[in-house]
Amino acid sequence: APSETDFDIIVIGAGPGGYVCALRAAQLGFKVACVEKRETLGGTCLNIGCIPSKALLQSTEDYYGATHDFAQKGIIVEGIKVDLAKMQANKQSVVDANTKGVEFLFKKNGVTWLKGFGKVTAPHTVEVDGKSYKAKHVIVASGSESMPLPGIEIDEKTVVTSTGALELSNVPKRLLVIGGGVIGLELGSVWSRLGAAVTVVEFLDRIVPGMDAEVAKSFQKILSKQGFKFKLGHKVTKVEKTDGGTKVTIERSGQKDGDGGGVEVIETDIVLVCVGRRAVSKGLGLEEVGVAFDERGRVKVDQHYATNVPGLYAIGDVIAGPMLAHKAEDEGVALAELLAGQAGHVNYGAIPSVVYTWPEVAGVGKTEEELKAEGAAYKIGKFPFSANGRARAMGCTDGFVKVLADEKTDKLLGAHIIGPDAGTLIAELVMAIEFGASAEDVARVCHAHPTLSEAVKEAALSADGRALHI
Ligand code: FAD
Ligand code: NAI
Repeated sequence: APSETDFDIIVIGAGPGGYVCALRAAQLGFKVACVEKRETLGGTCLNIGCIPSKALLQSTEDYYGATHDFAQKGIIVEGIKVDLAKMQANKQSVVDANTKGVEFLFKKNGVTWLKGFGKVTAPHTVEVDGKSYKAKHVIVASGSESMPLPGIEIDEKTVVTSTGALELSNVPKRLLVIGGGVIGLELGSVWSRLGAAVTVVEFLDRIVPGMDAEVAKSFQKILSKQGFKFKLGHKVTKVEKTDGGTKVTIERSGQKDGDGGGVEVIETDIVLVCVGRRAVSKGLGLEEVGVAFDERGRVKVDQHYATNVPGLYAIGDVIAGPMLAHKAEDEGVALAELLAGQAGHVNYGAIPSVVYTWPEVAGVGKTEEELKAEGAAYKIGKFPFSANGRARAMGCTDGFVKVLADEKTDKLLGAHIIGPDAGTLIAELVMAIEFGASAEDVARVCHAHPTLSEAVKEAALSADGRALHI
């Protein structure tokens, strides 16, 4: 009889990759344990990532709407105030409901939570705080952490990562964001809406690298209208604490530190460092058992998420690919199904990415720049929200839908949206790409009127020069 320390599968890490993998494996009949050192389940995403950031984005969007858009709609409210402590408490209750929900799901599906730090001590063996457990399959889902900037010390009070930026107990007068990526723009939006003057220092000459450039440009314009200041093509060389706050020295990118080109000193109250995230792959015994890593410290896996060590697998932020919760979840499901002898699979060409600012920004498939670089023959369909009845009624006419289709076959290659509810609207185009649809397929589908989704249909029509409302 198996001893109580034996499992079919031990997953290390209970983020979206690990906990979803554990649940799916349990559904498939495996005896599963999941190791998590945090006091709560759900990983980065539920505790200090997706969920708390979206709670604050929602609350501050409501406040911004009430203070900026209500009057236009004939709603007069006076004496609107922010109770930041209450807003933060609400955020925490949203987080708690989600993390407790995962705990409930573990119980419901018979997944054992091994609370503590997990270490792989030998193939098929995981030690949790001194106790050894055996499993046929061990899955590493240890996730990622924010990337430090050399010479800049994080105290999570005045020089913060996303974790500290989600916890501020006062609205800073000035917030300096290092890195014009997803975190900087989402959390920059949160504090900007509450009154902070936000300056974003970005190394490259554009924001959100990787996003379709036309969309990124429009995004920057809209954020600038909301009060964001951008220092593109600049890097931070020094952060010094002063009595009243912090002094940040920046200089133009592309020159050696201290060269003096374009040097500027900016005074600020809070500095948010968000220059990317890196895999958490060290310290959990992987080097010792001979696991291979790539040049960025991520665990190397084959198409079936297997490492070079038999019985050891990895999924989520700790392996290559976009660092997104839904990517980690889908890998978790695919791996559990592969281990059960099924055909688990993730289509990496159809993973949406969404920035939850206002307006939202979403994309799937190829960007126009990628198609150009491939030398692909493509056509563009575009439709602005300013020509969509529902967007006008909502008072959100900023942005557009852009679809990219094969010039000859009309097959959808990519889709990019900036506008109200872009993150929800993109789902239709993700499905279209997943099913190998053409722009015409989308254009021929009946879309309810008046909805924002009509802008998607019109963009698809426009790929063939047939848009009706523009
Ligand atoms: P993680 O969620 O990082 O989970 C790994 C878990 O493993 C952690 O709980 C950690 O404690 C545990 N662990 C690690 N090592 C050990 C060990 N040795 N023993 C025990 N436990 C261990 N993605 C989106 O798709 N949408 C969003 O809106 C979004 N917003 C984000 C906002 C912020 C501020 C941040 C920081 C990230 C955001 N992300 C978002 C990214 C998302 O959080 C990650 O892609 C996702 O959490 C990755 O899941 P994972 O399971 O691979 O790892
Ligand atoms: P990011 O990779 O999105 O952006 C980092 C930015 O910093 C880039 O624009 C980069 O050019 C810039 N940069 C790098 N070094 C710099 C330097 N020295 N000085 C100035 N700029 C510099 O990383 P970010 O924003 O930290 O987010 C990490 C990851 O977390 C994201 O890539 C994403 O995978 C995930 N995430 C996803 C969210 C979502 O799906 N809505 C929300 C938040 C995070």
